[in-house]
Amino acid sequence: MKGIVFNLLEDAVARDHGPGGWCDLIDAAGVSGIYTSLGSYPDEELFGLVNTAAALMGNSPADVLQWFGRAAMPMLASRYGELFVGHDNARSFVLSVNDIIHPEVRKLYSGAGCPNFHFRYDDAGRLLVSYQSPRGLCRLAHGFIEGASDHFGQATTIEHLSCMQDGAPACRMAVAWTT
Ligand code: HEM
Repeated sequence: MKGIVFNLLEDAVARDHGPGGWCDLIDAAGVSGIYTSLGSYPDEELFGLVNTAAALMGNSPADVLQWFGRAAMPMLASRYGELFVGHDNARSFVLSVNDIIHPEVRKLYSGAGCPNFHFRYDDAGRLLVSYQSPRGLCRLAHGFIEGASDHFGQATTIEHLSCMQDGAPACRMAVAWTT
């Protein structure tokens, strides 16, 4: 996992739990907590931080991932404003993830393992988002979609239809925007 993800986690923890929150977290997780944005670090180190944060906050690791994704989006918007240009709603932004956002991320961060998503619509007009990654970070994607909706001032409901964590071959979410 690229260091930028750890940097975003540090910023999110500091934003919601103060600068001491990050120190407490890295101490409890037993990691150095020093990450350069372009560096690559073991996925297990991120999972360790997420699991430790979950224990400290009394939440599940999945809830922590979702919180992190939502909290990270304003930070992504300030660092990568150009990726938001031309979009006036969250759906259009999310739909650009395969063709624009993640290809751009792969150029900036050599070795980034960004996932590909499959998109289609259900009969109710909800956006069906399918995701497959050995990392199983669908709840991070869920948080990113919520954060993107916040960014564009939209309310969203996201239903998980299937999850790799439960043994499904892929994660599928149905996303509806009510505004
Ligand atoms: C400005 C927008 C975005 C930026 C800059 C961004 C950047 C990144 C970066 C740097 C990684 C880590 C790759 C690695 O370390 O190997 C990543 C992973 C990921 N991104 Fe994005 N992303 C953005 C938007 C999105 C959106 C909208 C979604 C969901 C629809 C999404 C879903 C994910 C997921 C689930 C991962 C985890 C990797 C995995 O599951 O294997 N991202 N992204």
